[in-house]
Amino acid sequence: MKIAVIGTGYVGLVTGTCLAENGNEVLCVDIDKNKVDQMKAGVVPIYEPHLDVLFDRNIEAGRLNFTTDLKEGLDFGEVIFLALPTPDGGDGSADLKYVLGVAKEIGEYITSYKVIVDKSTVPVGTADLVHSTIAKDCKTNFDVVSNPEFLREGFAVDDFLKPERIVIGSSSERANEVMQRLYQPFVRSGNPIIIMDEKSAELTKYASNSFLATKITFMNEIANYCQKVGADVDKVRIGMGTDSRIGKRFLFPGIGYGGSCFPKDVKALHKSGKDINYDFKILEAVVDVNEKQKTILYPEISSFFDGDLKGKTISIWGLAFKPETDDIREAPALYMIDKLLEAGAKVKAFDPEAMENVEQKYGDKIGFGKDMYEVTEGADALLICTEWSIFRTPDYKRLKSNLKQPVIFDGRNLYPTVELAKEGVHYISIGRQK
Ligand code: UGA
Repeated sequence: MKIAVIGTGYVGLVTGTCLAENGNEVLCVDIDKNKVDQMKAGVVPIYEPHLDVLFDRNIEAGRLNFTTDLKEGLDFGEVIFLALPTPDGGDGSADLKYVLGVAKEIGEYITSYKVIVDKSTVPVGTADLVHSTIAKDCKTNFDVVSNPEFLREGFAVDDFLKPERIVIGSSSERANEVMQRLYQPFVRSGNPIIIMDEKSAELTKYASNSFLATKITFMNEIANYCQKVGADVDKVRIGMGTDSRIGKRFLFPGIGYGGSCFPKDVKALHKSGKDINYDFKILEAVVDVNEKQKTILYPEISSFFDGDLKGKTISIWGLAFKPETDDIREAPALYMIDKLLEAGAKVKAFDPEAMENVEQKYGDKIGFGKDMYEVTEGADALLICTEWSIFRTPDYKRLKSNLKQPVIFDGRNLYPTVELAKEGVHYISIGRQK
């Protein structure tokens, strides 16, 4: 099939590349000329495991191309994916200016039947809005389909190539047939393509992300409670997770969820409820609890140093909002850095992928190291904010000789408390006893 993908952010780039990998001809469109030039030269603008290999392979095979010319994309594709940003409009709601801007141009340009596929995370009713925006100037038949994506950063290629489910919101037989033909090769394992109306598909995405964020937040509250009553959240987590109605995944407590999706989507669903006088109480609580959770370790650090962090050096392992990404949007590490700097502490940080992004934000206000041990040299304490695999089995001897005193604040519960006690490390984690 011939496909155009409008917008080469994270979702667009992964979608375009993976559709090309499955034998489709894909033209990706972006207004950013520098980015398009880079991609034409084979440079992947984001860090995502395995994407580079597929990217090179498909460019070389001529199946994956790039342009800044929207009209060229619209002429080329029989299916047009919209993978445009829907940022926070300032009041928590999703801003649709990019989606509707492109919809208007689609209406002006297309001259033959197209399936317009909305892949962006958009509020309920957007497919109708896109449809009416295109229809204003359009002289040909077209259909608008809602096809939310469920990719996780760090696993996006695998998630796209082997999805657990594909959700298609469409009320057109013709568009359904096209979408099923496109996605059938990805679900040979028997995973479902679920067809529903557009509004239900749009809500499925928000409801899924909000539910997962709620699940994590619930566990964060249980962890905080464990700490107070002398229970161990690891044991509670396993005890709960073995009930198949609850499930083992997404029960890991920590210093809060971050990233470009959960924080934005929970707020947007809450706001969309407010707009129609529906009070999503549970979502409001999730947002509040998560904000607090991001700095839950700060009072522990502060009290360890008797409330005086001035001149103390805190070494941080992990800056990205989660492992396997360089994405620092809403990353808990940033909230901790702000708190520590505010208290007059010095910060020296290491992350396998995200240091460049953090340096752009903080300049020389914080220091970095070339590896995880270098940043601990002469530091007063170590704080762990992201659970990269490389941090899971540290050389305790080296760590103890580097740190002024053996103290670790762990926001991701990486180590068994018993092992750390044996090593003589003062170890504070989330929802477990010292
Ligand atoms: C999330 C969803 O998982 C995807 O299905 C969805 O497509 C995507 O948002 C999106 O809307 O585009 P992502 O933000 O990449 O994916 O990351 P997750 O792996 O879901 O993690 C989100 C946050 O939750 C991270 O900060 C992570 O550290 C935190 N988390 C996750 C926990 O604190 N505990 C857990 O048990 C699991």
